[in-house]
Amino acid sequence: MATTTLTPPSLGITDLVSLGDLSSAALRRVLDVASEIKSRPLDFSDLLKGKRLSMVFEKESLRTRFTFDIGMQDLGGSATFLDLSNSPRMGARESVRDMAKNLERWTHGIVARTYRHRTIVELAHTASIPVINGLSELLHPCQALADTMTLLERWGSLQDRRVAFIGDGNNTCHSLMTAATKLGMHMVVCTPEGYEPDAEIERAAVAAAEESGGSYTLVSDPKDAAEGAHALYTDVWASMGQEDETEERAAIFSDYSISDDLMDLTDEGVFMHCLPAHRGHEVSRSVIDGPQSIVFDIAENRLHAQKAVLALLLAPEEVN
Ligand code: CP
Ligand code: NVA
Repeated sequence: MATTTLTPPSLGITDLVSLGDLSSAALRRVLDVASEIKSRPLDFSDLLKGKRLSMVFEKESLRTRFTFDIGMQDLGGSATFLDLSNSPRMGARESVRDMAKNLERWTHGIVARTYRHRTIVELAHTASIPVINGLSELLHPCQALADTMTLLERWGSLQDRRVAFIGDGNNTCHSLMTAATKLGMHMVVCTPEGYEPDAEIERAAVAAAEESGGSYTLVSDPKDAAEGAHALYTDVWASMGQEDETEERAAIFSDYSISDDLMDLTDEGVFMHCLPAHRGHEVSRSVIDGPQSIVFDIAENRLHAQKAVLALLLAPEEVN
């Protein structure tokens, strides 16, 4: 069982519900541990020996499911997946609390992907084991860890770098706003009217940026967002659970698609997307499949970033 030489020893959290619960220093520590584990994975292969992870998903997943499962295996533990995508939402068959009180008797941590954000909050409040948000309608913290890790690897420092999110101001955007502003970046969000980020998350982003030397700006014209940006980010226009709104949203968001023309306005910017992507909708095929795209680097880093989260939450005493 390896140890890293990183300090301080504690993240100050026992669950990962929101990156907003992490200090900037704790967020940097997660990214440091992720990079450490990525650079010498075999040194961590026994870290979670004998530990089991519950994965309870109300929605489909490729990346989150695979990377948590493989991450547990890489760290010497195991994961068990409960697919609730064809079942009533959590809380219908039995209460969320009862579910938590069962899972904590058999396993050492829970990753949950839910529709309602409050389901994850309730799991975290009632389970005596760490609960990790694997995406809710409000937040996607593990995604933003991989996003910022990937940019950090590329640029060495995030301070004063400008990232523009163009699209729907929901879960992926929210967590990126939180991470980017805590890490000193200039975060620009560009959405159609009515699809702006949550006001409370915006206020927290402004406050975090004031402390870190970054900034947060909301604009409505994609060209203003793209101008001088070092990274352009987008996500699907209709998230899971919003399939009925697909056509309506395609019309509302049609001017917000990331094209070569928009990329040309950036400062040699990279293209980012959490995936899955819809080519010809939120991004053109030439951009996502072109040389500026780093989408698969990000997808790879989901694995390393989440291994850091698992290590720090499930075996904090070992990672110091
Ligand atoms: N980006 C992301 O979370 O992908 P999945 O929905 O496939 O897990
Ligand atoms: N906003 C998307 C993210 C998928 C990873 C959704 O919620 O479906």
